[in-house]
Amino acid sequence: MLKIRNLYKSFGKVEVLKGVDLDVVEGEILVIVGPSGGGKTTLLRSINCLERCEAGSIVINGKELFKDGHYASKKELTAIRKDIGLVFQGFNLFPHRTVLENIIEAPTRVLGKTKKEATESALEILGFLGLTDKANNYPFELSGGQKQRAAIGRALAMDPKLMCFDEPTSALDPSLTDDVANVIKSLSTQGMAMLIITHDMDFAKKVADRIVSMNNGIILEQHIYEVAEND
Ligand SMILES: Nc1ncnc2c1ncn2[C@@H]1O[C@H](COP(=O)(O)OP(=O)(O)OP(=O)(O)O)[C@@H](O)[C@H]1O
Ligand SMILES: [Mg+2]
Repeated sequence: MLKIRNLYKSFGKVEVLKGVDLDVVEGEILVIVGPSGGGKTTLLRSINCLERCEAGSIVINGKELFKDGHYASKKELTAIRKDIGLVFQGFNLFPHRTVLENIIEAPTRVLGKTKKEATESALEILGFLGLTDKANNYPFELSGGQKQRAAIGRALAMDPKLMCFDEPTSALDPSLTDDVANVIKSLSTQGMAMLIITHDMDFAKKVADRIVSMNNGIILEQHIYEVAEND
């Protein structure tokens, strides 16, 4: 689902990604841990076309996003980006729109779904996330964990093949962390691939199929921790 080879990215003279290799297969939950400043967020932003890389390649769902310094055309990029969902801690929800309005915004605007269609699938997603009773509430009326689940719902509404999370639990207490872990696990059993950045090792162990460490711009080891089945 995701194949990254020898990826390089600098900010001015500062090299941040220094030859990243990474694979995530269908239905896999890959967690990236590692010290602050190691390049994790930059990697995630690069996958989501929010940063431009200089060398290497990124292939998503068999489509080349970036190769040897060249990006896919605008039209191809739009198609590729539909396969990716991105959830940043606290940054996904429009404050002046209800949970339901937040979720149907992109499907109606980007995918051209009718409001009725988008609302039907949004209600399904909210049911799955345990947020049905919050559909008409505004983000400020939700708890941290509910906000986080609503942000996940917003990304899910685009029906992505690969979901990326940057610190999904950083503002959550441990019981809510379990909620988010359960949502992520049940999505992966439906075949969705997950790429998760976290500093929370308990959460990482709970949710991951595989944990890798990123330090100083490279993925250190591809298999530092293999999680046992049903662990
Ligand atoms: N827009 C930017 N301009 C210049 N330098 C940047 C920019 N974004 C990130 N950097 C630098 O790139 C390096 C990697 O940052 P990044 O945010 O990817 O680290 P991280 O691994 O996500 O860290 P953390 O665990 O603290 O979130 C840091 O040294 C940072 O200062
Ligand atoms: Mg970061």
